[in-house]
Amino acid sequence: MNFSALHQQVKQQTDASLLTLIDELPDYAPRLKDAMRHALLAGGKRMRPLLVQVVGNTLDVPKTDQMAISMAIECVHAYSLVHDDLPAMDDDDLRRGMPTCHIAFDEATAILAGDALQALAFTVLADAPLSTYAEAKRPQLLSVLAKSAGYVGMCGGQAIDLASTGESISLDELKRLHKLKTGALLRACVEMVAIVSEDLLPEAKVDLMAYAADIGLAFQVQDDILDVVGSSEKLGKPAGSDEALGKNTFPAKLGMEGAKRELEMLHDNALQALARLPYNTDSLIAFSELLVKRDH
Ligand code: IPE
Ligand code: IPE
Ligand code: MG
Ligand code: MG
Ligand code: MG
Repeated sequence: MNFSALHQQVKQQTDASLLTLIDELPDYAPRLKDAMRHALLAGGKRMRPLLVQVVGNTLDVPKTDQMAISMAIECVHAYSLVHDDLPAMDDDDLRRGMPTCHIAFDEATAILAGDALQALAFTVLADAPLSTYAEAKRPQLLSVLAKSAGYVGMCGGQAIDLASTGESISLDELKRLHKLKTGALLRACVEMVAIVSEDLLPEAKVDLMAYAADIGLAFQVQDDILDVVGSSEKLGKPAGSDEALGKNTFPAKLGMEGAKRELEMLHDNALQALARLPYNTDSLIAFSELLVKRDH
């Protein structure tokens, strides 16, 4: 199967599984349930499930384990977007080509939908069927997911993002902000798959995590670039939002050419890390290429 067919398949599988996850919830808070469905299902690219699958297939990790990890990560990611769009944060009204959760519903419901999606992520990872090998690693998976979502991960990054908005920060601080707010969840995808891989050697794990760190940062650099050069229609979210808000971004710090050079450098570093791995890394290379070449 070629890489874009694999991506399509991951999208369909992820959408179907997430829909089931929501539909299985009891109906006593229908507005909250609708808001969670809206946040989870409105056309995401499913890059994190794709990354889980690509790494999982490379390391021969069973599909059941890949699925549990993907669902949990996608729930945290969807929650992070709902809260990121709130008036108190980026105050955006368009997401995935649809009204953001607080516009489609209301602010209180959007806050609760984010909260409930985050909790759902941990329910999924705590309860989903896993292979015998992965079953013994369940606490470790939960720990990695919690860290990547919290203070030492996404929330910490979002806090630095908000605290530094409208202020000038150094390139190193900007890198730390991006590594946390976006890189942490992408790294967690790779780390969780590595944890449930039965025969990954420690040296190979180091190189795999170096790859994850590079693409994690690259993901947000490209997001920043697209916010400048993309259209709202193509992105499905408001273009120019970063500049309007005075956000610290790579194009703002380094200029567009500098940001693109940084992106190329991260891609090259990611490929160098892969070259040291004793596996067929074609699909990992393709993932990094997709990430730096994507137009939305
Ligand atoms: C957007 O993530 C927010 C960032 C962390 C950069 P995605 O670009 O993966 O958003 P969706 O899931 O495809 O909508
Ligand atoms: C958000 O970064 C990263 C998250 C943790 C959600 P952005 O604020 O740049 O994401 P978009 O551009 O709104 O998707
Ligand atoms: Mg933001
Ligand atoms: Mg935003
Ligand atoms: Mg952005």
